[in-house]
Amino acid sequence: MQAFWNAKFQTKELAYGEAPNNFVKENIDLLLNFKTVMCLGEGEGRNAIYLADKGLEVEALDISDVALLKLRKRAKEHYVFVKTRHTLLEYWQPDQLYDAVICTYLQLPKQNQKMLFEKSLEALAPNGYFIAELFSESQIHFESGGPKNMAFLYDLNDILDIAKVLPCKIIKLAQEVIVLNEGERHVGRASVVRIILQKIANDQSLIVP
Ligand SMILES: C[S@@+](CC[C@H](N)C(=O)[O-])C[C@H]1O[C@@H](n2cnc3c(N)ncnc32)[C@H](O)[C@@H]1O
Repeated sequence: MQAFWNAKFQTKELAYGEAPNNFVKENIDLLLNFKTVMCLGEGEGRNAIYLADKGLEVEALDISDVALLKLRKRAKEHYVFVKTRHTLLEYWQPDQLYDAVICTYLQLPKQNQKMLFEKSLEALAPNGYFIAELFSESQIHFESGGPKNMAFLYDLNDILDIAKVLPCKIIKLAQEVIVLNEGERHVGRASVVRIILQKIANDQSLIVP
């Protein structure tokens, strides 16, 4: 796994470009009054650096040490600090609460996808947001990037089933065809799932109508 991703990030160029993911950028207003953000599967750090530039305290988790090295170098060039965690998401035990968890294009096998949502919600402070953009199963028909393997793509209904039993409000959950222009690896029409979940405050579940 690490060798697979390290090989992709060996190039001098940024695989997914310098600019943050559009969906993250479009939803920046949700985060501006927040303090802490965790970016999962963050790669070379395009979202993390953008968020740190906005004044947020950002952490980035990834299995590729090559990508995280590039991230730290770029963060320095931007005069911002991003704390990096070199680990598989599967081994991550959230040890603090974050105001937001961001995840763009993390490719996980079907059997681990539920864990992404469970851990993200577990790591969120009450009222915090989980914001994600992931390739949908329909991406198999597009040539704009992502895995050519259904086992690593996401199904909207599976995500709905997972989210329904988590302590969250579903703010957005939609499958959309968008046009990607993210570095060399994400270019052209693509089918994605866009997700915003808001963690329900602990005491909300205690409110008796
Ligand atoms: C397609 S790239 C996307 C990178 C970044 N989120 C972006 O949009 O620019 C997927 C990233 O997830 C990381 N990754 C894949 N599986 C992982 C896992 N199980 N745990 C942690 N990181 C993982 C890879 O190393 C890679 O950086």
